[in-house]
Amino acid sequence: LAFAVSPAMAQNYPDRPITVVVPFAAGGPTDTIARITAASMQKSLGQQIIIENAVGAGGTIGSARVARAAPDGYTLLIHHVGLSTAATLYRKLPYDTKTAFVPLGLVTESPQTIIARPDFGPNTLKELIEYIKANKEKVSYAHAGLGAASQLCGMLIQTALQTQVTTVPYKGNGPIMNDLLGKQVDMTCDQATNTTGPITSKQVKAYAVTTKTRMSTFPDLPTADEAGLPGFEISVWHGVYAPKGTPPEIVKKLSDAIVAAMKDPELAKRFRDITTEPVAPERATPQVHEKMLISEIDRWAPIIKAAGQYAD
Ligand code: MLT
Repeated sequence: LAFAVSPAMAQNYPDRPITVVVPFAAGGPTDTIARITAASMQKSLGQQIIIENAVGAGGTIGSARVARAAPDGYTLLIHHVGLSTAATLYRKLPYDTKTAFVPLGLVTESPQTIIARPDFGPNTLKELIEYIKANKEKVSYAHAGLGAASQLCGMLIQTALQTQVTTVPYKGNGPIMNDLLGKQVDMTCDQATNTTGPITSKQVKAYAVTTKTRMSTFPDLPTADEAGLPGFEISVWHGVYAPKGTPPEIVKKLSDAIVAAMKDPELAKRFRDITTEPVAPERATPQVHEKMLISEIDRWAPIIKAAGQYAD
């Protein structure tokens, strides 16, 4: 049954709390970005934003939950680059990634860090590469499922080294970090938004950052490109989505709230404290975000196909 939002409903929007679905576990990077963004957006929307962690299957369960939600502006999704990779990683999804959502605006692009448990042998990225090549299946690489940023990073490392390690799936980088600190898994890639604290306190070993340039927080930490993986680059861009069919008036109100959040000094400070930045306000728009989503689906598709990574 088609759901129609009356003009009065659109005009009065929002008159009750809004739910933002985070498709990964609480306490991880997406959850953190969602909570900071929501805290700022609710100031201009004048309504409470509730975070709901709908986890599993590399973020596709939460995405599906929003794809089938009523397009009334009260159920939104925050997701990252993984929304675009899952489009190829899964042969069948219950939604068409290019058309199921209205992109509302980008919010940040976070660096990823290649990290390991504190007592893991290799000390540099070069040593890590040699260790992985020599030990393959012995190395356990934790990721948050097919469609997670951590999975994308692990896939690219394995492709670059033409090898396969043992991968261990989780529901998010929150639980992965717990197991890394508990020395139950060897390594992962995790966003700086989740690793800034543990790297600073030396609770994890950091080898490299996956962005083109070094992070200001850790100027001594090399880029992957510099330290042994030439051309290796991932930036974990995050955006907010509404279900397809959301009325333009509601899309405008939400998009304006995202732009306002990107200009909010409090949000900027909280982002910078965890080594990320708000996007420039002109990039926090539905138009820029939609182009990004489509171009990222098209960019990653051949890379994923070449890596032969699929789920049914
Ligand atoms: C998370 O929030 O747990 C992460 O974004 C998972 C991932 O994509 O690696």
